[in-house]
Amino acid sequence: MAVQPARGTRDIYGVEGQAFQFVEEAAKKVAETYGFTEIRTPIFEFADVFSRGLGDATDVVSKEMYVFEDRGGEKLTLRPEGTAGVVRSFISEGMEQNLPVKLFYNGPMFRYERPQKGRFRQFHQIGAELFGPTVPEADIEILAMAWDILTALGIKDLVRLELNTLGDAESRQSYRDALVAYFSAYKNDLSDDSRARLEKNPLRILDSKDEKDKRLLEGAPKMTDYLTDASRAFFDAVCKGLDALSLPYVVNPRLVRGLDYYRHTVFEFITDSLGAQGTVLGGGRYDGLVSELGGPAVSGVGFASGVDRVAMLVRKQNLLPAAVRPLALVPVGAEMTLPMMKIAHDLRTKGFVVDMSYSGNMSKRMKKANKINAIAALMMGSDEYQAGSVTVRHLDSGDQKLVAISDLAAHLKSEGF
Ligand code: HAM
Repeated sequence: MAVQPARGTRDIYGVEGQAFQFVEEAAKKVAETYGFTEIRTPIFEFADVFSRGLGDATDVVSKEMYVFEDRGGEKLTLRPEGTAGVVRSFISEGMEQNLPVKLFYNGPMFRYERPQKGRFRQFHQIGAELFGPTVPEADIEILAMAWDILTALGIKDLVRLELNTLGDAESRQSYRDALVAYFSAYKNDLSDDSRARLEKNPLRILDSKDEKDKRLLEGAPKMTDYLTDASRAFFDAVCKGLDALSLPYVVNPRLVRGLDYYRHTVFEFITDSLGAQGTVLGGGRYDGLVSELGGPAVSGVGFASGVDRVAMLVRKQNLLPAAVRPLALVPVGAEMTLPMMKIAHDLRTKGFVVDMSYSGNMSKRMKKANKINAIAALMMGSDEYQAGSVTVRHLDSGDQKLVAISDLAAHLKSEGF
């Protein structure tokens, strides 16, 4: 048996675990200020949910999904992203009765990608989806919420928001035709990948990393020239809203995103501080997805952020709040263990962090207390026990004081522990 995690997966604990918790909690708090409530959808769904939802021609569907047949012969997929599952739930649960619906989520996603720094096969997203509104105000709120999360984490100055529009279905179709006409003339000069995209998903050529493709792209038609008037007005309204809220952005006409369900607004928050995998958050509007998956004609807009990457950034910048320093329990003599456990139990119910080292004599336990960076040691020997008190020793200064057990919680609070 291989005693290693599978390729592209890892165990998240210790400081990385703290960073995940910090990111997830900050995001949740901000989402709640916008009136979003949490949804937890299954980690696997019928394979159709994703293949129909994200588009057959996308890399995610054609190359990266973990698809398997269960023992009953059902074809299932480990979710590669959150949106399609949330849309499936929106439909199954009949949520269109209560529009607008505002949901956020947090959890693992799975893509069979080549692992590298910031790219995993099991990664984690926090995301938000807003169903119902067809107006640009919804897009503006979603973008404001994303900004607020990055601001709460202290990383807003390390990211830039890139924004684009893919227009409505009509704009997208005429732009697609224009791209096919343009690139067909250079078919033999395109990279193999882009030649395949020309047939299946021409818009994806726009974010090719191949140098030759990039040169050809310079002369390619621009989406902005193919927008219907309504699409242009929609995008202008989104930009105006961001201006009104003083949220910075740059328009990137080449931004297309990797999933097929987007219409109108698309965006990414990108950092230069993490190397090649610098996109920390992405999203957009997906009018059409709910009906594509068999539901009513309800619009949606949302985003998802890669927790793994955001947590890396938070750690790199030393933005992780210091861990709470515990109180260390030091029974002096084995017979003091149970009386001290009773004290610890009481303190914990009052919210104090109390560490128990389980074994060792007094000097071993004091060493351990220093090692875990305890703020103070609570010591009790039989004399103290008889007197109904505990010695509280500050580990930084060495100062100590005898405190009555009945006053202990109040005393510790007054010391700021
Ligand atoms: P996405 O751009 O595919 O969009 O993923 C969102 C974020 O997840 C990325 O910006 C990145 O931070 C993170 N991510 C993606 N793949 C990996 C990976 N292999 N390893 C580490 N992090 C990764 C979506 O998933 C859409 N569902 C977003 C959305 C929600 N659009 C509308 N609503």
